[in-house]
Amino acid sequence: MRKILIFAIISTLIACNAYRELPGSKVDDNWKVKPIPPSAQQEGGDPAAGLDYLIYGDYIGSGVPYEFFKKKMSNQPDTVLRREGENAYVGYGATVFTAPNGVKVVNGNCFTCHAGKLNGEVVLGLGNSFSDYRKSLKPMARLMRLGVGLKYDKDSDEWKAFEDFSNYFREMAPYIQVNQAGANPAFRLAEACMNHRNPADLTYKKAPNYEMMDYTIATDVPPLWNVKKKNALYYNGIGRGDFTKLLFQASVLGIPDSTAARQAVNRFRDVVAWLMELEPPPYPGPVDGQLAAKGETVFNDHCSKCHGTYGSEESYPNKLISLALVKTDPLYANYAFNSGIVGWYNSSWFANTEPRSYFEPNLGYVAPPLDGIWASAPYLHNGAVPTVEALLDSAKRPTYWSRSGRSDDYNHRELGWNYTALETPEGDWAFDTTLPGYSNKGHYFGDKLSEEERSAVVEYLKTL
Ligand code: HEC
Ligand code: HEC
Repeated sequence: MRKILIFAIISTLIACNAYRELPGSKVDDNWKVKPIPPSAQQEGGDPAAGLDYLIYGDYIGSGVPYEFFKKKMSNQPDTVLRREGENAYVGYGATVFTAPNGVKVVNGNCFTCHAGKLNGEVVLGLGNSFSDYRKSLKPMARLMRLGVGLKYDKDSDEWKAFEDFSNYFREMAPYIQVNQAGANPAFRLAEACMNHRNPADLTYKKAPNYEMMDYTIATDVPPLWNVKKKNALYYNGIGRGDFTKLLFQASVLGIPDSTAARQAVNRFRDVVAWLMELEPPPYPGPVDGQLAAKGETVFNDHCSKCHGTYGSEESYPNKLISLALVKTDPLYANYAFNSGIVGWYNSSWFANTEPRSYFEPNLGYVAPPLDGIWASAPYLHNGAVPTVEALLDSAKRPTYWSRSGRSDDYNHRELGWNYTALETPEGDWAFDTTLPGYSNKGHYFGDKLSEEERSAVVEYLKTL
């Protein structure tokens, strides 16, 4: 038994090291900062129709038959979205919609991951930092297939409206189990689903397109109100070209083929319009105006060249910062750089039909806009730092920390979650920065500030 355990530990260590040195993933010193150029976007969408589509729409394509799901539903109405019809009784993270063959099905929607709680209220567009993907979803994938298979014939419409989702759920379930609470494996989900789609017409295929690493890397979830300033999507700036196609990516979990994808993606012009109007929640507490004004000067001297300027003279430079310069955990950028998903995406329907989107991987991270930064703790792409104050003073960053999991447990002085530094990573919402991909190192740009300058910058950031 002990031998097996030791073997398991050693092979895990070897495996983890292997990811740090993926072929061709050495830190590239040839560039420090790359400006990200804009791409043409579609205009004229309707923001209200965009939100409507996000909460009622059929963009996931297939799902669990509603008749089957209904029995397991609560009869409590949802108080967040207050939707009409069957959707009134479904949680805000799921939608009842009609599959292409006319059967009503249920599936998750974008707000499973892109709505977060603050002071007990759900904020649409804030990343959900309280998801927990540590349990394997493999048994659920099996049970769901079994349950639906027992109730409906394999040639029934219900089974057909379920089958695509079921196939992709089964393929991705083994790849999205993470070792960190709060971390979101969306990239792996997309990677696993695309792995079983024909690139040209997006139909299901059993044989994989590429090899996937064993280790499940996951990230924080970025707030959606920054999309309007960005020329490239995702932490590493990999998402280029037309945003409607990029946003639509979550649909690889269930959309049957490129014909259904084409119809859904047309509706994403409205979704993009909704995002262009989305604003961060204003800081709810008092702000010391004088201190904030001092902070603005410090910010403009030390931070704005990467993060832009705010207020009456807004600017955002859209810069990608190399791993060598930002020095934050390189694993996510390295991982995406080497993933088979890049070649797949760039030879697929997404890249080969108009409007075109494509992946451009780089070994670096985007310096994001900081609008509403007070609301979107924890910080960095991997969520390794609990507060802005700790982000600006690397000596204060805890190796192991935990939060209560309550959305009102917010620290207004340090901006972020109240946290307890731990000796060992224990408890439901513990964060372990020693795990591969979750280091709290790097972004040392606040270290050279004095205590006074730092607290002034924190005060200023409350106003963005
Ligand atoms: C399973 C959780 C999950 C679901 C479902 C999901 N997302 Fe995301 N989304 C993420 C994560 C995690 C990221 C960050 C990935 C990265 O940047 O590398 C992300 C990134 C994004 C970004 C890029 C933001 C930025 O600043 O670069 C946009 C836009 C986005 N998602 C929109 C959507 C839309 C629209 C949907 C529904 C069609 C959706 N997402 C569904 C988890 C999810
Ligand atoms: C050389 C460019 C650069 C400079 C200068 C810089 N930053 Fe950053 N900043 C980045 C990058 C890149 C990231 C994303 C790193 C990551 O996620 O791994 C980041 C992330 C952040 C974040 C976390 C964002 C989030 O959503 O998690 C905050 C807050 C921040 N920076 C504040 C500042 C402040 C305040 C200053 C000035 C003291 C500053 N930065 C200076 C490049 C820079």
